[in-house]
Amino acid sequence: MNTEVGNLIYRGKAKDVYETDDPERVIIKFRDNITAGDGAKKENLKKKGFYNSIISTKFFKILEEAGVKTQYIELIKPGYMLSRKLKMIPLEIITRNIAAGSLLRNFPFEEKQEFKPPIIQMDYKNDEYHDPTLNDDIAVALGFVTREELKIIREITLKINSVLKDFLKSKGILFPDFKIEFGHDSQGNIVLGDEISPDSCRFWDSETWDVLDKDLFRKGESGVMEAYITVASRVLDDEDKKKWNLDI
Ligand SMILES: Nc1ncnc2c1ncn2[C@@H]1O[C@H](COP(=O)(O)OP(=O)(O)OP(=O)(O)O)[C@@H](O)[C@H]1O
Ligand SMILES: [Mg+2]
Repeated sequence: MNTEVGNLIYRGKAKDVYETDDPERVIIKFRDNITAGDGAKKENLKKKGFYNSIISTKFFKILEEAGVKTQYIELIKPGYMLSRKLKMIPLEIITRNIAAGSLLRNFPFEEKQEFKPPIIQMDYKNDEYHDPTLNDDIAVALGFVTREELKIIREITLKINSVLKDFLKSKGILFPDFKIEFGHDSQGNIVLGDEISPDSCRFWDSETWDVLDKDLFRKGESGVMEAYITVASRVLDDEDKKKWNLDI
């Protein structure tokens, strides 16, 4: 496919959204910027955008095969994902299988406590308000989603969790938690957007419990890019690696 990168519509903290010649499609460019703490901590990690785009592509493909509607159309080249243009719902849907991060700071859970069934948490995606956790009533009152849509979002999220958790288990990776975003497509369907990568998920090695995600950056530890490459090398198959010329 020959898609031209058009005008920049939105520049986020780690990705850019570009127009294409089709009003229903955008190109999402995964950049090398990495941020934490509401953007307070910033750095550039060489090739992070490249790896996050191929990791996200793999997860979106697995989810599409399982019947989940996603933004994914094609990875034009590493870093550049041709996607369905969505009107994003300003909610961060967080699914938790094992207690970590802010859940431990805010509630008296035990470290590494397992949740069966998983916990689904919703944060209002708004930097000005520092992404507060909200509930269904607040989300509906804010007016960007209906109660029925929240039910659908919950169902799709549980499916995404079980599909990816099983896949990752087969690759020796635990899936403590992850954050996803949904939007409406031009027909009003709820579609999974954004990304699924070590920036937006916690991944731990199943044997050693070593951290393989952005937490390394949050904590100022070394080996961040190595961890992202480890995730890519485990989740990608040989065909993907050959296609993107990856010696990992
Ligand atoms: N398919 C899509 N169509 C339109 N916009 C999208 C789509 N997928 C994601 N987006 C939006 O694109 C932007 C991507 O930006 P990015 O993730 O870099 O930063 P951010 O969301 O502004 O900040 P952060 O995620 O770090 O809090 C987000 O606003 C996201 O909601
Ligand atoms: Mg984002």
